[in-house]
Amino acid sequence: MPDFLTIAGMPRQELLRLLSATQKNVSIAEGRSPNRTTLNGQVIANLFFEDSTRTRCSFETAVHRLGGQVFNLTPSGSSISKGESLVDTARNIECMGVAAIVVRCAVSGGAKMVADGVKCPVINAGDGRHEHPTQAILDISTLMEEFGSVEGRTVAIVGDIINSRVARSVTHALSTLGAHVRLVGPPTLVSKSFERITQGPGMVLTMSDLDSALDGVDAVMMLRVQFERAAGGAVSSDYRQMFGLTPQRIAKLAPHVVILHPGPMNRGIEIDDRVADDPLRSRILRQVTHGVAARMAVLEMALGANVITAAHNRIEA
Ligand code: NCD
Repeated sequence: MPDFLTIAGMPRQELLRLLSATQKNVSIAEGRSPNRTTLNGQVIANLFFEDSTRTRCSFETAVHRLGGQVFNLTPSGSSISKGESLVDTARNIECMGVAAIVVRCAVSGGAKMVADGVKCPVINAGDGRHEHPTQAILDISTLMEEFGSVEGRTVAIVGDIINSRVARSVTHALSTLGAHVRLVGPPTLVSKSFERITQGPGMVLTMSDLDSALDGVDAVMMLRVQFERAAGGAVSSDYRQMFGLTPQRIAKLAPHVVILHPGPMNRGIEIDDRVADDPLRSRILRQVTHGVAARMAVLEMALGANVITAAHNRIEA
């Protein structure tokens, strides 16, 4: 089954295919081109065991744009609050005839556990500190819109790296595509072991001085400190001064440098208002549009074969 669980180990050609499909979907995501009907008659389950705004709503929107139906399950109001396990929940939902399950959970490896427990395709919408593969696709699609290709580009990812599934997935993808990554943050939140993530020609470096890390970059991705993953203790009162993206810092960047953030932003901590809302450099809201396009591409990849077979069977009948 074509699950979509990680970027780690994903071949470059497959990554590029998904990115190209994403880019073609952008005008649909913007509402400028007509929706497709690939998921006509299919129901998708969004199992979100952790809070989400962008990821959950963009999966929903992507299903609608492909002509399918979607429902959401969250812990409050479901039997998860009564102690039912992730896998038991997913197995029951599968028996309702859903075509795919999108899962977000706090457990690293949770999406794989679900995939091992059901037969339908499973898409990882973020599992603990492990991976957030659709976020990597949308981030790189946003960068490709800007630069054409990411090959040879340098991207600084700044903040709570150790707890970030986004950093892990994006670093895998960028290095596969030949971009260089600088992972920047306080030593308590950046582990040197991240340098081993590299799975392609791109180099991965860990750094703790933001100002030198910003020298010569093409893009900067800011990350939130993940207080819910107990990162708060690792953050000192001078965090903004040391690792915040301030107007003074971006004034020194070359004119072509763009700023990303997966959201949610903690304004005034990792990013100042004037940077987040900078009309020339910020691509933060553009990422959200690419998020719908990327999730459409992933859903079609996961379900394409099934959907085409189902349509063919209907014609034969
Ligand atoms: C991220 C996540 O949930 O991993 N957000 C997102 O999906 N856009 C990052 C975060 O929560 O800080």
